[in-house]
Amino acid sequence: MITLDREYLGESVTDGALASMMEEVEEAAATLESGTGEGGEFVGWLHLPDIHDSEEYERMKEASARIRSQADCLVVIGIGGSYLGARAALDFLDGDFPVFFAGKDLSPHYLNRLLGEIGDRKVFVNYISKSGGTLEPALAFRVFRQMLEERYGPDWTDWVITTTDGEKGKLRDLTDREGIESFTVPDDVGGRYSVLSPVGLLPLMTAGVDTDRLLQGALKVREDCRQEQSAAKVYAAVRNVLYRQGKSVEILASYDPSLGSLAEWWKQLFGESEGKDGQGIFPASTIFTTDLHSLGQFIQEGSRIFMETVLWIEDDKTDVTIPSYGEDYDGLGYLEEKPLSWVNEMACLGTMAAHLEGGTPNLRILVPKANAYYLGQLFYFFMYVCGLSGYMQKVNPFNQPGVEAYKTNVFNLLKR
Ligand code: PA5
Repeated sequence: MITLDREYLGESVTDGALASMMEEVEEAAATLESGTGEGGEFVGWLHLPDIHDSEEYERMKEASARIRSQADCLVVIGIGGSYLGARAALDFLDGDFPVFFAGKDLSPHYLNRLLGEIGDRKVFVNYISKSGGTLEPALAFRVFRQMLEERYGPDWTDWVITTTDGEKGKLRDLTDREGIESFTVPDDVGGRYSVLSPVGLLPLMTAGVDTDRLLQGALKVREDCRQEQSAAKVYAAVRNVLYRQGKSVEILASYDPSLGSLAEWWKQLFGESEGKDGQGIFPASTIFTTDLHSLGQFIQEGSRIFMETVLWIEDDKTDVTIPSYGEDYDGLGYLEEKPLSWVNEMACLGTMAAHLEGGTPNLRILVPKANAYYLGQLFYFFMYVCGLSGYMQKVNPFNQPGVEAYKTNVFNLLKR
């Protein structure tokens, strides 16, 4: 089970402050679970781990087996919540089938490089858009549809699966008109809470990730989250105690680059859920020790606005032993034959102590292993904390009205 380590939190979170915040957490939990808060029609993600018992889950398994036997690679076309979860999982875990991502920006350079990398490989496309009208994936799909039509003529539809709304939207219309196989994004699940729906599961199954274990992990945490003093509730309380003391930026720090995409998923989850009505903790991320050589100075001595949450994997998949030499040419002879993972851990502990000293309280989330089971735990844990936190900050954690402003301007410019 993932657990919290509060040793480097310091004195800013007193027992009294935590206890009184826990009362707010319980109120928020009741609102979240009952679906009676703002956005309560979008709490279907609470029950997504049950998807493993559904016919749709079996159909996903068949579809992913078909993709793996028919094609050489999968291209997932989507943006925001329609790709970040799968991307996070595939950078964190080892898949055994190539999955690429398109439609997550408007960069011609990225798209051309991707097309070059794919080359002559047989491409299967999973086009994911809940609304079915998002600019970036729609334009990328035009490019891949053209490729598929050139290769397969009228049979191009055999190389595409869509994941979209069950009834409405332009992608639903195209899917039905062309007879394309499709999976549904549940009505009561918003994009950034959809990783445990077909949005995340189909690409992950195709990549060879053990989604049964992923869902088992999520189920395990779902049971735990509801308990009094659960890690999720305590984490929600701590971050809100700190927020009210002026810590308005939370840094999700990890010590392994394979967690970088998980941090991107986390940033979208918390950023779009909390950041509204003049509220919210700004979500930032760092990969240490790399970023200690760039942002470390600011975190140690700059504006005192940070709290830090460290994601720590307790048992690394692989290790490296530091080689011995006859001469101690770099002065590091005392590290000979030590595992690099131990050096990394000492760097983590030393950094947390320094940051606390400098005024940045740290919390650590201990993850026993980097596998699908614990990733499922992390996904559910963070979504639950985010739902709680949103209600504690008196915002609707399930809408994103602010996203429309830039879109309106962009479309006005494009149509001009
Ligand atoms: O969390 C969200 O709702 C958004 O980030 C969406 O996932 C993103 O904007 C993509 O939307 P769509 O799936 O409708 O293309």
